[in-house]
Amino acid sequence: MGSRIEELEAGNRRVLSELGTAPLPIEPNISPEYFELERERIFKRVWLNVGRVEEVAKPGSYFVKELPLLNTSLLIACGKDGVIRGFHNMCKHRGNKIVKTCRGTANGFACGFHGWTYDLEGKLIYVPQAEQFVDLKTSEYGLTPVATDVWEGFIFIHLDPHPAQTLREFLGEFGEAFHGYPFAAMQRRATWTADVKVNWKIFEDAFFEGYHVPYVHRRSTAKAATRIEKAIARLKVPTRFFKLHRISTILANPNFVATPSATIARKEGGVSLTGYTGTREALDTLPPGINPERREDWNGDLVEVFPNIFMAVTNNWYITYNFWPLEIDQTRFEVNYYFEPPKNAGARIAQEYAIALNRVVLREDLSTMESVQSMQRSGAMTSMPLCGLELRVRAFRRAVQVYLGDS
Ligand code: FES
Ligand SMILES: [Fe+2]
Repeated sequence: MGSRIEELEAGNRRVLSELGTAPLPIEPNISPEYFELERERIFKRVWLNVGRVEEVAKPGSYFVKELPLLNTSLLIACGKDGVIRGFHNMCKHRGNKIVKTCRGTANGFACGFHGWTYDLEGKLIYVPQAEQFVDLKTSEYGLTPVATDVWEGFIFIHLDPHPAQTLREFLGEFGEAFHGYPFAAMQRRATWTADVKVNWKIFEDAFFEGYHVPYVHRRSTAKAATRIEKAIARLKVPTRFFKLHRISTILANPNFVATPSATIARKEGGVSLTGYTGTREALDTLPPGINPERREDWNGDLVEVFPNIFMAVTNNWYITYNFWPLEIDQTRFEVNYYFEPPKNAGARIAQEYAIALNRVVLREDLSTMESVQSMQRSGAMTSMPLCGLELRVRAFRRAVQVYLGDS
């Protein structure tokens, strides 16, 4: 084990001592009052990822992002000047939702109620029967903007058009870790969404620890179970802890026995969910923040961007999960898969295989969510003990507390 790993493990121990070891309260998972505080003090005060730049690559291209948590719908559009802007998707006459399609290309946006029309930059440019209004200053009735910025091709919005913190400041040192990663070279291959009856934090917790893997995923990755337990024991998932965000490096098992279909996917497509498939040299092209040890037994890095993004990142594909709280006990889960353009039909099929396998694994993850939520509501327990393998859960929960101002 290299000194860097030891250093990271020592760092983990230091973080553990800073975060404490006491059981964590269950109240935040089941209290509607707590949920309202999270809405006001977290989600209305942080930068949130709503899409990728590839979705609005050309002037006039746009998409709509429904955000029930924030009681709004947003319109994200690329202006004639190539700048991506975000607005509340609301006509400033009487508040009608202006764009009702999910995505498309337009020269501007006309409201279907009385025809007020806006350009791609949100300016009000046409009012039917304008002379019927008294002193209507059209310059004051442009679409209401939200702050919009881009990190590594990920579009972020902040509900406050003049946020106290820039996106760069919000991401801090973590934001530098991906500089040079070929996000732009990968294409979205599949996407799906599920509304799950679980609190958003319980949902995310499950992705912030590997303790559950040998049990929850014993069917999909049965042969991997032993190796994962060993890997956890061996490496304790070295994690780089940033102020709010985290990156963990997951190692593969050299003894893992792949299924025949997994072997074909790996051989034909260079795609694997169970280990690195590239060359030694290719490892050195990764940004220093990813797989910092340059280990060839690398399985991928797991990335957590506070408050609601999780990513699995390898050399030739990445997956994103976005968790959108809807109610205290309901969360919208969005999954997106991105791959390098396939070099041949075999690679394309291999990518589909990886997506299918990931879906199976996620369905297993989902299988525990609703039962945890329903039983935590019973009142039969008030706190949950966490072990060292659940350190990232503790770090995430601490970040939530910091934003709520009660810690
Ligand atoms: S509400 Fe949009 S034009 Fe009247
Ligand atoms: Fe899992």
